Amino acid sequence: MDLKEIMEKGLAAIGHAHSLEALNDVRIEYLSKKGHLTKVMGTMKDLSNDEKPLFGKRVNEAKEAIDSALKAKQQQLESVRLDEKMKADAIDVTMPGTLFNIGTQNPIISIQREIEELFREMGYQVVEGDEVELDLYNFERANIPQDHPAREMQDTFYIDEHTLLRTHTTAIQTRTLEAYAPHVPLKVICPGKVYRRDDDDATHSHQFVQIEGLVVGHGITLSDLKGTLSLFAKRMFGESRVIRFRPSYFQFTEPSVEVDVSCHICDGKGCNVCKQTGWIEILGAGMVHPQVLKDAGYTDETLTGFAFGAGVERIAMLKYGIEDIRSFYINDKRFIEQFKRYE
Ligand code: PHE
Repeated sequence: MDLKEIMEKGLAAIGHAHSLEALNDVRIEYLSKKGHLTKVMGTMKDLSNDEKPLFGKRVNEAKEAIDSALKAKQQQLESVRLDEKMKADAIDVTMPGTLFNIGTQNPIISIQREIEELFREMGYQVVEGDEVELDLYNFERANIPQDHPAREMQDTFYIDEHTLLRTHTTAIQTRTLEAYAPHVPLKVICPGKVYRRDDDDATHSHQFVQIEGLVVGHGITLSDLKGTLSLFAKRMFGESRVIRFRPSYFQFTEPSVEVDVSCHICDGKGCNVCKQTGWIEILGAGMVHPQVLKDAGYTDETLTGFAFGAGVERIAMLKYGIEDIRSFYINDKRFIEQFKRYE
């Protein structure tokens, strides 16, 4: 090839190179020690001394032209490659993300919230308290005397002589009564964790959640309690549920009742869940004991009130047919995931 041809073909080859690798091949073919331009330089010895400088100059010009064309093309190809890389590496923010495998709200919390919501609609306030409580509010103010079996070491977790892990959310109620007296009406719902020295099994847990309600005012009667709890039972177990009261005993209520709801599984006909009775016990309740009101600072003896307390785990177990209370606490995703549909 003569110099003219080398120039033309070299520039054309640079024009056609579509990758940095191909461009490098062109560089080697034209500019390396064994390349066309080196070869053409070898022909210089055949020229006359007059022709040599001009030829040398032309070779240099050709070399520079090819070299600068190579550089320009290289820059262009590099920027194309960068663009492609940026395009390939770009994060498409419109793509759906990777879904983390998360659980769902524990049914205990959902039911607690549902109950809170129901009572809020009826004008109650939600009040919480501390899990570490004074004996005074857990027992004394609930009219539970010194020699009561619940006060025994084997039933209650004591921290010291006067301090314990509350055994019922009635402790929140005695505190609320004291804080609120002598004002009425008082309508509160008190959810919270409580602790008892029970051996854990399918139906017992040393820690569980209670939710208690308390109303104090003028003219509050047992039938108000029944109406309220009837609504509660229907909301939890279905519109066709009815409740009944059975006489019972609590230190802080008089009279006291045990509340049964007609069985939501067999509709009261009798089945395994209701032990063939058609009824399921769901909570304890009663009219607030006058002593409790008095100790809290209510001096108006015409005031009355009602209170009730339910175990949230028990309600959840009945509602969803859960047989082992420990299922709520062991964080087994297979258990918890079943409640997604209730959210
Ligand atoms: N505090 C009682 C319990 O823990 C429940 C209860 C509350 C009963 C309010 C009557 C009134 O079993």
